[in-house]
Amino acid sequence: MTTLGTSNLDIFPLNLGGNTFGWTSDEATSHAVLDAFVEGGGNFVDSADVYSVWAEGNSGGESEAIISSWLAKGVRERLVVATKVSQHPDFPGLSAQNISAAADASLERLGTDYIDLYYAHQYDENTPIIESAAAFDNLVRAGKIRHIGLSNFPAEKIDEWFAVAHAQGFAAPVALQPAYNLVAREEYETKLADVAARHDLAVLPYFSLASGLLTGKYRSAADLEGKARGHMAGSFLNDRSLGIVEALVSLADGLKVEPATVALAWLRGRDNILAPIASARNIEQLPALMASATLELNDEELRVLNTASEPVSVS
Ligand SMILES: NC(=O)c1ccc[n+]([C@@H]2O[C@H](COP(=O)([O-])OP(=O)(O)OC[C@H]3O[C@@H](n4cnc5c(N)ncnc54)[C@H](OP(=O)(O)O)[C@@H]3O)[C@@H](O)[C@H]2O)c1
Repeated sequence: MTTLGTSNLDIFPLNLGGNTFGWTSDEATSHAVLDAFVEGGGNFVDSADVYSVWAEGNSGGESEAIISSWLAKGVRERLVVATKVSQHPDFPGLSAQNISAAADASLERLGTDYIDLYYAHQYDENTPIIESAAAFDNLVRAGKIRHIGLSNFPAEKIDEWFAVAHAQGFAAPVALQPAYNLVAREEYETKLADVAARHDLAVLPYFSLASGLLTGKYRSAADLEGKARGHMAGSFLNDRSLGIVEALVSLADGLKVEPATVALAWLRGRDNILAPIASARNIEQLPALMASATLELNDEELRVLNTASEPVSVS
C-alpha cells in the first residue's frame, strides 16, 4: 500500500478503472472483477458520473450504480472510491451549483455518505476557478467528499487552483489524473510533470494501456474492427507505437509476464506516478494488471523501454 499524496488515504498501487462497468462488462461481470480485485489486495476504484453514457441505452451513472450494488456487500470502509463531475449530460461543467448537485447525485447513486476522492473531470473555461474551488471546499467541509482531484486540467489552471486555495484557505487538490502511457508520454512529461511535483500531487494516469494497445493484442487496423475500444485504441496506433509494442512484448516474453504487466510497472515507476489506472473487462484480464503492482523493472529493462518510447515533441 502507498499513501495518496498529501491525503490520509492508503491505496493499492493499481487503481481499477470503472468505465467498463455497464459498458463492456455487465453488472455480474463487473462485480466479479471487483471481487477479484479486492481479493488480490486492491482497494482503489475510479469512476465518474458520466460513465458510461456513450454505450447504447445508457444515460450516465451506470458505473456508479454498479459500484453501489457491489458496495452493498459491506466493503465500503475498506474501499477508496473516486468519482468525477462535469461531463454527465444532466450535470455539465464546474459551476458551484452544478458541483453541489452532481455530488449529491453521485452520493445517491453510489449509496454512500462520502466520496474518498472527487475530481473535477475537465477544466471548464466558462467558470472561474475560484467558484469551482470554493464549491469543492464546501463539499470537503460538509463531509461529502474527503479529498479533491483534478483531471484534464492545463498546467496553468492547476497552478491557479492552488493559488486560490492557498489565498482563500480552501482544501487543496491531492491528485492529478492525466492521460499518460508508454506510447503517449509527451503531454504529461513536458507539460504536467513539473506542476504535479510543485504541488505534491499524486498522479494517477488513465489510458495506462493505451486502451488495450499495450496488451499487444492490436497490431493493425484490422485487429480493431468491431472492438468496443477500437476507436480509442486506434488513436494510439501508428508505426512508432507499433515499434514500442514490439519492444514491450519482447521484454515481457523474456520476463515471462504479460505486456500489460510491464507497461503498467513502467508507468508506476515514473516520476510522481503513484498508481496507474487500468480497467479489466472480465476477471481473465485482471491478473496481468494486478501483477504490475509488484513487478520492479531493472535499469536495463527501463533503458530498453525508455529508448523505444522516447517522446517526440508536442506543440
Ligand atoms: N479522466 C479521464 O478523462 C478518463 C478518461 C478515460 C478513462 N479514465 C479512467 O481510466 C480507466 C482506464 O482507462 P481505459 O479503460 O479507457 O483504458 P486502459 O486502461 O488503457 O485500457 C483498458 C482496456 O484494455 C483491455 N485490457 C485490459 N487488460 C487486458 C488484458 N490483460 N488483456 C487484453 N486486454 C486487456 C480492456 O478492454 P477490451 O477488453 O475492451 O479490449 C480494458 O478495458 C477508465 O476505466 C476510467 O476509470 C479516465
